[in-house]
Amino acid sequence: MSPTVVIAGVGRFGMLHARVWREAGARVVGLADPDPERLAVAARTHEVARTDPDLAALLDRQSADIVVIASDEASHADLAVAALAAGSHVFVEKPLALSTVDAERIAATAAAHGRQVVAGQISRFAAPMARMRARIASGAIGTLCALRLRRDFSRAWYASFGDRVHPVWESCIHDIDLATSFTGRPVRRVMAMHAVAAGKARSSVVSALLEFDGGVIATIESAWLVPPGAPGTLDGGPLALDGAIVGEAEALGLDGVLRQRLVSDALVEWTGTGAQVPDMSLWPEEDGVIGGALRREIRYAIDVCAGHRPPDVMPLREACWGVAAAEAIVESLRTNSPVELPPA
Ligand SMILES: NC(=O)c1ccc[n+]([C@@H]2O[C@H](COP(=O)([O-])OP(=O)(O)OC[C@H]3O[C@@H](n4cnc5c(N)ncnc54)[C@H](O)[C@@H]3O)[C@@H](O)[C@H]2O)c1
Repeated sequence: MSPTVVIAGVGRFGMLHARVWREAGARVVGLADPDPERLAVAARTHEVARTDPDLAALLDRQSADIVVIASDEASHADLAVAALAAGSHVFVEKPLALSTVDAERIAATAAAHGRQVVAGQISRFAAPMARMRARIASGAIGTLCALRLRRDFSRAWYASFGDRVHPVWESCIHDIDLATSFTGRPVRRVMAMHAVAAGKARSSVVSALLEFDGGVIATIESAWLVPPGAPGTLDGGPLALDGAIVGEAEALGLDGVLRQRLVSDALVEWTGTGAQVPDMSLWPEEDGVIGGALRREIRYAIDVCAGHRPPDVMPLREACWGVAAAEAIVESLRTNSPVELPPA
């Protein structure tokens, strides 16, 4: 049976979500967004009759098997709790929440109502990253010692969403989550430094050192300085966001090393408008539908919420660990000191 879905937040990513959930077989039965113009465009585009600026009010009139939260980061926790209290399962875009207190509030509400929460940490669902995780888990590189993860974003994005919350919650959270998925453990200690570009309120470069339970160390670096002349990776793609994500993930074991570019350079396009290295892993269009990690993630969420599989790829507990690590990085940047995390 196709699940019914309500989407909260129909901005850039919410619009893409609406498309992919429908393509994956869900029925989108309601949309919530305080922006009336976006709401009207989304309702027309995705043929949805029920809309409301407020998710809780919408859920009073329209039940949903799954509520998809693709709104601004600061609203995630309250929306997730409202959706769970209304009896829906929740898919919530990254970050799950902006504090450990809120992440635990979500987890407690999910447990109290017997509902699932799937955090939209998309990187786990990218095929090369899933392969890295499986190879580490199978012992292919022996005992895992260290991880190096780097992710740089277009500088133009900083102005549009990079500093609406601390950029650690926008970019580093992906790599914290990858490191968590590779180790399967929570972080116990963090030290971070940053550089702040002139005129900016928050970090434009972050460098963090994380020690996981069990001793694996991870370096996580992120900069929002990719210039406009760099080859685009998302230009002209299905997400209304041109620009570039550039980065690498590396796992160092006692018996081997795994390395992966975040966006493969297998396909390079040179045209009259410049060079592109199009993303073929996150949300590529394949045969007229969105494929890649986003489709895989949504199909996984549908199966977990239907009880057809356990929440083994993206357990809520690991999303909570990621929130605790991101919070510790922000705290380390604020105090310029190491931060010890309490046992998870
Ligand atoms: N996984 C990924 O790779 C990826 C990529 C892009 C965005 N995201 C995440 O998706 C989320 C949305 O990002 P975006 O770029 O689409 O932002 P956006 O600014 O384009 O859209 C956010 C929308 O949420 C709406 N909104 C705000 N408060 C709301 C509330 N209380 N209820 C309902 N709607 C509300 C806004 O009006 C806006 O329309 C963020 O959490 C972001 O981090 C994830």
